[in-house]
Amino acid sequence: MQQCQAKHLKDYRSPDFTISHVVLEFDLNGVNTKVKATSQVKRLRADATQLALHGESLNLDSVLVDREKVNYQVEATQLVIEVDSDAFELVIETQIDPEANTSLEGLYMSDGAYCTQCEAEGFRKITYFLDRPDVLAKYDVRIEADQAAFPYILSNGNLVEKGELPNGRHFAVWEDPFPKPAYLFALVAGDFDLLEDSFITMNERKVLLQVFVDKGNLHKAHHAMASLKKSMAWDEQRFGLEYDLDIYMIVAVDFFNMGAMENKGLNVFNTKYVLADKESATDDDYHGIESVVGHEYFHNWTGNRVTCRDWFQLSLKEGLTVFRDQEFSSDLGSRAVNRISAIRVMKNQQFAEDSGPMAHPIRPESVIEMNNFYTVTVYNKGAEVIRMMHTLLGEDNFQAGMRLYFERHDGQAVTCDDFVNAMQDASDLDLTQFKLWYSQAGTPVVSIDDHFDPQKKQYTLTVSQTLPDTPGQTNKQAMHIPFDLELLGSDGQSLVNQVLDITQESQRFVFDGLTYKPTPSLFQNFSAPIRLQYEFSDEQLVNLMRFASSEVARWEASVQLISQAIWLNITRIQSGSAMVLAPQIVDGYRGVLLDPQLDSALVAEIFTLPSAASLIEQVDSIDLDALEIAREFVEEELAAQCEDELLVKYRQLHHIDSVGARALKSRCLMMLLKVSEQHDSIAKTQFEQADNMTDTLAVLSAVNNSGLVLRDELMAAFERKWIDTPLVMDKWLMLQGGQNREDIIDRLAALEEHAAFSFTNPNRVRSLVGGFVAQNLYRFHAKDGSGYRYLTDILKKLNGTNPQIASRLVTPLIQYQKFDDCRKQQIKKCLKELLTLPDLSKDLYEKVSKALL
Ligand code: TRP
Ligand code: ZN
Repeated sequence: MQQCQAKHLKDYRSPDFTISHVVLEFDLNGVNTKVKATSQVKRLRADATQLALHGESLNLDSVLVDREKVNYQVEATQLVIEVDSDAFELVIETQIDPEANTSLEGLYMSDGAYCTQCEAEGFRKITYFLDRPDVLAKYDVRIEADQAAFPYILSNGNLVEKGELPNGRHFAVWEDPFPKPAYLFALVAGDFDLLEDSFITMNERKVLLQVFVDKGNLHKAHHAMASLKKSMAWDEQRFGLEYDLDIYMIVAVDFFNMGAMENKGLNVFNTKYVLADKESATDDDYHGIESVVGHEYFHNWTGNRVTCRDWFQLSLKEGLTVFRDQEFSSDLGSRAVNRISAIRVMKNQQFAEDSGPMAHPIRPESVIEMNNFYTVTVYNKGAEVIRMMHTLLGEDNFQAGMRLYFERHDGQAVTCDDFVNAMQDASDLDLTQFKLWYSQAGTPVVSIDDHFDPQKKQYTLTVSQTLPDTPGQTNKQAMHIPFDLELLGSDGQSLVNQVLDITQESQRFVFDGLTYKPTPSLFQNFSAPIRLQYEFSDEQLVNLMRFASSEVARWEASVQLISQAIWLNITRIQSGSAMVLAPQIVDGYRGVLLDPQLDSALVAEIFTLPSAASLIEQVDSIDLDALEIAREFVEEELAAQCEDELLVKYRQLHHIDSVGARALKSRCLMMLLKVSEQHDSIAKTQFEQADNMTDTLAVLSAVNNSGLVLRDELMAAFERKWIDTPLVMDKWLMLQGGQNREDIIDRLAALEEHAAFSFTNPNRVRSLVGGFVAQNLYRFHAKDGSGYRYLTDILKKLNGTNPQIASRLVTPLIQYQKFDDCRKQQIKKCLKELLTLPDLSKDLYEKVSKALL
């Protein structure tokens, strides 16, 4: 087993040495790729005599200090050099094998192209270095490669020289004027199609924009380019932030562990977040591209110009940058719909992480494998924490805080505290208590009781908060929670609409001058990432669905209403009574469908019932079998009761070319097919007539679990058409993995042999295996343990080739605490088996061992 020592935030120590400048010379030559690093090293602590450099999977050729041989020791993960001078030149020559690198971290090959991924700690697989974010160096990079196979040879910053060499080789020299940590280094060499454009900045500087894609895909790069230009304009308008180099490059690669990477001036992207045309990409894909292109672009200031002091501070750049990309999407599109999808991520995934064995604060305190902390907690809860500060400060003060943050810290590697301090100093707001959001893990539970006193005309809310224990953390302190509240009158008028501060374990809010009990809309727009406990009546919720000022609050009321119906039916199943769906609930939903004022996209959200995963997060233990039956019943019953209206709506929207119309049309189709097979013909017609992937995929999703002959026919037709387009076949693989059928495990095994599948490509694995474990909850949790067994075997395989991907897939296996004993025992057995793997990666070890505590 690899060494599995945890590192702790409290042990942070500034570095003994730093590197101010490095010249990297790459000789790209397949298995014999050579790297020469010439570093200018400075000693920061006079008593330090050993320079310890990080390094992994490297073949060391030579080490010279000021051109002389020195004493050094090579260990498994570091090189320790004896030194005794305050400043010196260090030259290290190593060899690496990018072709053998299946971890997709460091320098590796993606479909014939060389590329790098250095965040978080991958640079150490390229050369021995101070691979920590508080060491910032200027980089000069010289790359040499075969000219015919690798016509484009790229690195960060500006191209300063290039030329031809003997033997069909060529070279290029790149200089990045901005000092950066090693994790932002990038190199790409390959043959691509190139889309070029330019952007004129607010100070009239012209920036060359380049998007590199696999040959033959140029026509699919336009949306990414348009998104980049929109991002650059938006960051100037909303944040006053201008781009700082003369060139911005994006390279799309097939083999990539995550979405994309913000390397300075040279972003590397998963093709999934670049390539799109109407025929092959859905509206969601287009939106995903826009937001990821934005996200990486926004990192140029929040991440690159100001970076993290250490990896415990990851949320400094990720939480803030997710907040920024969410605001970008919301300013460009529908704010309500974007907010709803952010809330869904929190309730479907982050709450589960917070209540599971990997629960950690947005600023973790201890880490075994850093790659395990690129989590929904650090990213999405981190963004919610930034959003709460934005709510407390308001836009103007928040922007003043941002300006102060850059004034103070441009060019530095800083902490989350530095960020909050800038917000505090710019606003005169005391954020001391608020900082607990950075150190305390878990989702606060806020319980609310209300009381109306008709004599005093007084409405009182009694609010109390508790923060559950999480691994390693007990007895937590009360948090500062922004409480965005609306009180609605009987005719739907807004009586109160304001943000209150919850700061005590228990406190009261009193509202005077009310003649009757109002309906409260609590934590509007998810004003804090908390779990709310309040006994809503169905009537109140129907009222909120109709009248709440906030569209998001209307959606939230619908979620609450339908969740209550599902819980009710679960208890009815358990007590042997017949299932029911109250007419006023159906009326509430029907009213939404008939309301001409409502945006179609919002109606589509309301008709997307809460996922099984988010329902599980509302309780401490779950009867999964009853949940499946109850949730299915409620959805089918709702569809049956609204059949006529759904059909009318479907026909109205059928030919409207807009994202919202397509979204609602898809929901209508999905629900109609639950009512009766008579509606098959609509599905078939839509499939045949579709001129865009959104409409096509809507049909396939709607028939996927129907057991119809039609399903197999359409899937086969889709396969014939798209067999040579991997990103589209990913959708097909995901549908296959998501199919709720008895023989699913055999089907999965057969699909592993399919031409469209490959274990070495993360996108393929995420589609088929990820589709099964994340979109096929009931089959994954099959009582006989077959789903667990299947995943365990996959993990054993991936553990050796790509531990990062294995570790991401293990999530549903470690979040077993709410299931029945039968399932728990089977899961634990699988986890124990994983723990005995002889070459268990740090990534899996950290999660599996925590899950078994
Ligand atoms: N910094 C990247 C982002 O959020 C995340 C990332 C890309 C990453 N590739 C990675 C993180 C590989 C860990 C490992 O934009
Ligand atoms: Zn990011």
